[in-house]
Amino acid sequence: MASLATHGTLAIRGGTPVRTRPFGGWPVFGREEEEALLAALRSGTWGSLDGELVKRFEQEFAAFQGARFGIACVNGTLALSVALKAVGIGPGDEVLVPPYTFIATASAALMIGAIPVFVDVDPETLLIDPSLIDAAVTPRTKAIIPVHHAGAPADMDGVMAAARRHGLRVIEDAAQAHGAAWRGTPVGAIGDVGTFSFQSSKTINAGEGGAMVTNDPELDELLWSYRNVGRRRGGEWYEHVRLGWNLRMTEFQAAVILEQMKRYPAQRAHRAESAGYLDERLARIPGVVPLKVPEGVTSHAWYSYHWRWLGAADGGLPKRELAEALKAEGIPVFAGYVPLNRNQAIRDEIARLGGAEPADCPAAERAEAEEILMFSLPILMGSREDLDDVVAAVAKVAAVRA
Ligand SMILES: Cc1ncc(COP(=O)(O)O)c(C=O)c1O
Repeated sequence: MASLATHGTLAIRGGTPVRTRPFGGWPVFGREEEEALLAALRSGTWGSLDGELVKRFEQEFAAFQGARFGIACVNGTLALSVALKAVGIGPGDEVLVPPYTFIATASAALMIGAIPVFVDVDPETLLIDPSLIDAAVTPRTKAIIPVHHAGAPADMDGVMAAARRHGLRVIEDAAQAHGAAWRGTPVGAIGDVGTFSFQSSKTINAGEGGAMVTNDPELDELLWSYRNVGRRRGGEWYEHVRLGWNLRMTEFQAAVILEQMKRYPAQRAHRAESAGYLDERLARIPGVVPLKVPEGVTSHAWYSYHWRWLGAADGGLPKRELAEALKAEGIPVFAGYVPLNRNQAIRDEIARLGGAEPADCPAAERAEAEEILMFSLPILMGSREDLDDVVAAVAKVAAVRA
């Protein structure tokens, strides 16, 4: 294993960095995407109502996620708002969400007047802890949004059991988890609706984009309608049976996503192998603890790779100093999310809507303040030499005494 003896002074203190080359880029694309885009352009039908590509994407993506219906839209944030509307969530309703996630999981509820109530995560997985759900439920609780964080499905046994106990609707935030599965069932349609993002950083992307999947034909109609300015399938152009948004995807996005989907299986396998290698090597470094993958996860999308830094308690660098040292060694590393229960904009909006002040979420807060570090997708898509540089750099900075 690498050590200070083999690597010398930290780069941040004037030593030589472990790595000077950049890591690979994202997205990966080729002639296939170029030709698909050109064909969409030449078709002259650029909008989804006239074209065929968005419709084909909706069918193929639903099948990919094991769902009966797929509805494309503009992004993963509005997919969540639409899903909440479709299952009947409105002003003043409470929606249970984990605090350790992208802001959209909670803001999508707030933007339609619903109030997020935070249910802390399991510190070993960063996924919502189902044993904490009962205590968060009130007479106003109507839905729960489990987040399949970093590509790892949340404990859907625990979530679905709690939802049945309390009569909650379940929206799966699968923005980071295309192709992931819980006990052999792809995520998305285990609950009522699943939502996905195709924004630039995602494992399948078109710059921007979103989708919703469901097995329920009535929800399919509602999702389609909310996404399409409240129209009804088969209705007149100016017939609007409810209020909705224009959230339609373009044919250009569908053209790219359909090609990116073909690349997914090999890319996921590569990332899974990288994650296994990192798990095994990083676990040998004192103070470094890779995240646990719950036993029910039968396919992990490996959108990103998180690990816990527990070495500060034994005299190692505090998390943020460790991260800065690692960046100076040439390894891009991220400190992770600010827990949403601590986000002032979220807190202000909850207060404005008359919701209860968000409770503390000790696991998410400790993750942010002290423990969690993250490598993004380009590192998981890297070569074995790339991963060896990552491990060597972590070993180097982890060995330093504060
Ligand atoms: C967990 C989660 N939910 C929702 C979103 C929102 O998706 P989008 O950026 O497409 O609006 C994202 C990603 O950006 C996400 O990571």
